[in-house]
Amino acid sequence: MDMKFLKRITSLALVVSMLGLYSCDNANAQHSKNNNTVKSISKYDSQIKDLMGKMTLDEKIGQMNMLTSDWDVTGPVMRAGYKEAIKSGKAGTLLNAFTADYTRELVQLSVDSTRLGIPIILGYDVIHGHRTIFPFPMAEACSWDLEAMGKSARIAAVEASAEGIHWTFAPMVDISRDPRWGRVMEGAGEDTWLGSKIAEVRVKGFQGDDISKNNTILACTKHFAAYGAPEAGRDYGTVDMSKRVLMEIYMPPFQATVDAGVKTFMTAFNELDGVPSTGNKWLWTDLLRGEWGWDGFIVTDYTAINEMVPHGVAGDLYDASVLAANAGIDVDMVGDAYINNLKKAVENGDVKESTIDAAVYQILKAKYELGLFEDPYRYNDATREKKEILSPEKVAFARKSAAESMVLLKNDKEVLPFSKDIKTIAVIGPLADEKEDLIAAWSAAGDRANRPVTVLEGVKNKVGDNVKVLYAKGTEVEGTSTKGFAEAIKIAKQADVVLLAIGEKYWMSGEAASKSNIDMPGNQEALAKEIFKANKNTAIILMNGRPLTIEELDKTAPVILETWFAGTEAGNAIADVVFGDYNPAGKLVMTFPRNVGQIPIYYNHKNTGRPLDPNEKYTTKYLDVPNTPLYPFGYGLSYTTFEYSNLKVDKNEITEDQIVNISIDVKNTGNYDGEEVVQMYIHDVVGSVTRPVRELRGFEKVMLKKGETKTIKLSLNKKDLSFYRLDMTFGTEPGKFDVYVGGSSDAEDKVSFTLK
Ligand code: GLC
Repeated sequence: MDMKFLKRITSLALVVSMLGLYSCDNANAQHSKNNNTVKSISKYDSQIKDLMGKMTLDEKIGQMNMLTSDWDVTGPVMRAGYKEAIKSGKAGTLLNAFTADYTRELVQLSVDSTRLGIPIILGYDVIHGHRTIFPFPMAEACSWDLEAMGKSARIAAVEASAEGIHWTFAPMVDISRDPRWGRVMEGAGEDTWLGSKIAEVRVKGFQGDDISKNNTILACTKHFAAYGAPEAGRDYGTVDMSKRVLMEIYMPPFQATVDAGVKTFMTAFNELDGVPSTGNKWLWTDLLRGEWGWDGFIVTDYTAINEMVPHGVAGDLYDASVLAANAGIDVDMVGDAYINNLKKAVENGDVKESTIDAAVYQILKAKYELGLFEDPYRYNDATREKKEILSPEKVAFARKSAAESMVLLKNDKEVLPFSKDIKTIAVIGPLADEKEDLIAAWSAAGDRANRPVTVLEGVKNKVGDNVKVLYAKGTEVEGTSTKGFAEAIKIAKQADVVLLAIGEKYWMSGEAASKSNIDMPGNQEALAKEIFKANKNTAIILMNGRPLTIEELDKTAPVILETWFAGTEAGNAIADVVFGDYNPAGKLVMTFPRNVGQIPIYYNHKNTGRPLDPNEKYTTKYLDVPNTPLYPFGYGLSYTTFEYSNLKVDKNEITEDQIVNISIDVKNTGNYDGEEVVQMYIHDVVGSVTRPVRELRGFEKVMLKKGETKTIKLSLNKKDLSFYRLDMTFGTEPGKFDVYVGGSSDAEDKVSFTLK
């Protein structure tokens, strides 16, 4: 099969005339030339061709059909009869099945009961751990620890593969600037450059360095594309943006996964420029496979083919199936669309059989690469499963990862860390002893009801019998009842220090969980006010799946520790932090607005022609709230303090092929050893199009002992200074660049250089 065949041969005229797609220009070609993705002929090419030569059209289409088991339902369609479908060769892949024994049964059905014995691939949403659950992805991103994020993905793959899973539907790489959208918890925050770095390490963590090893799993980049920008933050909502914003802000993390060698992609529910992703040939055939040269298979999101009918680009499921197949989509997730329509579409000439062959080639290639034809049961070993699941070292790493994800937002009068000499501690709040929320949404096979360590349990584990631990729930997350206040206030008065755990329920974020109001739910802030009056040594333990508008709380709380939903070891990690065994170093990857009216609010905004001037009426501002957020991107405190000095650039003038070297001294000026995330932002002062006032282009997380100074060295290259210029080509422009370095996106230390 030659290379030309691998290109999607589709009825381009039909698709383009229907949908008026983006033009494909040399911008992407130029940018993609930077990628080292050259399509190679698979080493299994001859076996694949040989097998395909034996397959009937029905058997080929069966490989393009994905069903769900009845173990976990992650979408609106529940499927019965999936085992019969597997036995009759009508399911090439299946999702929501795990454990070594159950998956062995399903693989056996596909191998023993079908004519050609093609093994099934089993996929699952292993998003932030499989049994050992880590902080959800956006929380984990606040660690800015790329190595740790790669390691947690690796651990997730080891556990999932030990339970017979071949494929995860992760990483989700959707950039989002809107915390009303519940799925911000699944991504890596608002920044494209950091999101791209994180996307890369997550793909490599899941897939390892050799996908033929049975402790690796196929990764799946999702949701292509721009799903994180729905109008008004409402999930599944309309996405409409300029090509420039799409290519500059939303596309680079997808490209980063292509460069990282991701094996599969998933469509998005949303439309883009009027064309639903699942029928968007420009996205899949022209850009992803064409310009970017990506090679792998594409799965729809859950029933996304079917949804092109309500989207209004297909009159019925037949039309939708034709649209998806001709756009280049290989696998239909639980839609029963391909299986019931593609044969007719081929017979009618609406879909070429070569299109079917191209899809089946990719699916079979993945199965060969996983080693499933060599040994279909290599992932179904109950002994390995028992050894790998929740092993002590995995759990210990989850505890460290949890602590690293936490962000100290406020610590007045250094209330934290608590002294270990205290006699009594009060642990209060609706989330203080609640297990179910700690592993967040998308928690795969995590044992939500029993395994997570609560705050109360973590404190008791930490202090043992030396300290009296009091507990009161105080109130619920939702509701107005104050009947628990009195007891909570009473124990707060009796205690030396207080932990008050408040925030969201886990189901208030994730899929189909957008909110128009992101204030603290219920009357939790009212309880907090009473507790602050009762004890000034109170630390808020915030647990939430998105940035919340907590400006009032921020005015009165002595301490706010953002702990997100920190996973299986949440309570132990929180105790490590509040008692000073771990000095928090997390930095926000998503802006906290003061109120929902400021949204979208993000650090890399444009300056406008009337930038804010407090002394001028006619400048960009609100009458009722400052332009600044409550907490900016990159912000996070430590128990110690850091001083920046001696910022230098090694060249005042450069050509675009030269490297700019930046250095700065960072001193630990406080009383605790601690880590600091030193961040570097650029500002391209003048461009052929307006440029963001700041853009993250480098960072280093550094440990400094008390009193220690280190010189941090960062650098900038041509790609760092490049952008989509007025003509949409990707590259640099001569002119002045300002460089800011510090511990947050509002760093003030600045140097400049000129690109000639
Ligand atoms: C869901 C999600 C997607 C997930 C898939 C399978 O609707 O949008 O992220 O991977 O279905 O569960």
